[in-house]
Amino acid sequence: MRKSALPPRVIAGVDVGSGRVSCLIGQIEGGVVRVLGGGASSCRGGLRGGVVVNIPETAAAVTRAVEEAEAAGKCEISEVWLGVRGGHLQSFNNRGAYNIARTDREITPGDVAAVVAGARAIPLASDREILHAVPQGFSLDRQRGVPHPVGMEASLLEVDVHLITASSAHLSNVLKTVAQAGFEVVEPIYGLLAAGELLVSPEEKELGCALVDIGGQSISLGVYAEGAIKHSREIAVGSDFITRDLASGLKTSMAAAERLKIEHGFAHPSLLGDDAPAQTHGIDGRTPLTVRPSELMAVVLPRVEEMFTLVAEELQASGYAEAVAPGGAILTGGGALMRGMAQAASQVLGLNARLGLPHPERVRADEAWLSPQYSTAMGLLLCSQSPQWSGAQARAAASAKPAWVRKLTAALEGIF
Ligand SMILES: Nc1ncnc2c1ncn2[C@@H]1O[C@H](COP(=O)(O)OP(=O)(O)OP(=O)(O)O)[C@@H](O)[C@H]1O
Ligand SMILES: [Mg+2]
Repeated sequence: MRKSALPPRVIAGVDVGSGRVSCLIGQIEGGVVRVLGGGASSCRGGLRGGVVVNIPETAAAVTRAVEEAEAAGKCEISEVWLGVRGGHLQSFNNRGAYNIARTDREITPGDVAAVVAGARAIPLASDREILHAVPQGFSLDRQRGVPHPVGMEASLLEVDVHLITASSAHLSNVLKTVAQAGFEVVEPIYGLLAAGELLVSPEEKELGCALVDIGGQSISLGVYAEGAIKHSREIAVGSDFITRDLASGLKTSMAAAERLKIEHGFAHPSLLGDDAPAQTHGIDGRTPLTVRPSELMAVVLPRVEEMFTLVAEELQASGYAEAVAPGGAILTGGGALMRGMAQAASQVLGLNARLGLPHPERVRADEAWLSPQYSTAMGLLLCSQSPQWSGAQARAAASAKPAWVRKLTAALEGIF
């Protein structure tokens, strides 16, 4: 009798950004992500720099983004892979060692878990916790560069790890927020690493490259070399800063400045065309205002230059500025959508730069979901498939409710 294969499980990735919650729902078939639907909801009042400052407001944004994705994908979900970020995340590298004291010195998965646990054992302030300990590479009897030690023999097993720590309070608040929205968190994952799973190929990780996620209020920088993440940092500047500069520089409202930035903004002087003026409104939202692209450029370029200068300084400080030269800079995040961003990055960083795109063999998705604004959410779908990311920090959210309870509660709230 033929066995009927189970349909692939529906999974969801929710990226809580600095001003927006994005959600993608998909299925994985044969290692390929098929995106069923997506949604996004802005949440300026509930989030600041990736940190939840208002739980009910952010929970409502999570519900809106997920329900939009559920409607687009014609499915319902109850648990999510959660992308977290923010200035409270810190990272550094550490090393762990483990003696194999048995007569048969063949390394088991238990030995690998033990050496990684040793590398995680660091003194931490009481209000901080480890979010990830990402193995960078193993050594066997001081021989470095062993990618998969299980089954090999040695008496000393060592591991280098990239540790990411988070403020326990900020992490709890984002988990509470998702629980309040009615979903269970399968795993919280640093958003930058999730985007890296999607956009940085194993070859690029080996060659050396920098992933630059330009969000609204922050830039997340990830440095990859020798096949692993070596350095990561949250830089407190993002594309919203350009909007703010435009609003104050051109004396217009934030909404008009955001529209000007998206429709007419550019990040490199080579894109200045015939300087034909664009129409907008003054700060009152009514008085007509004419803005020339050259005026726009005079405001945008200094901020873009500052953003990439901060990235360049961080690369220098990491000690990997040379190591990332072969693969160059891979840009993602909504801020990377501005025309000329890759040229500006290339000029300031002195590296080849390009917009990161998911490999077409790994992703099947409508054009809309391939936007860099969804790369973290899509990366989370991929993370759900890898044992590296699953299970280690699984935590059940306090009060996850099934979709029908959520919708009934929302309906009742609407009535009373
Ligand atoms: N077409 C565009 N051109 C220029 N900027 C854009 C465009 N589309 C979106 N942005 C900007 O991208 C930013 C939002 O990007 P994204 O959604 O990646 O941020 P986020 O995930 O909320 O923030 P963060 O990653 O900092 O936590 C906003 O500043 C927005 O104005
Ligand atoms: Mg983001």
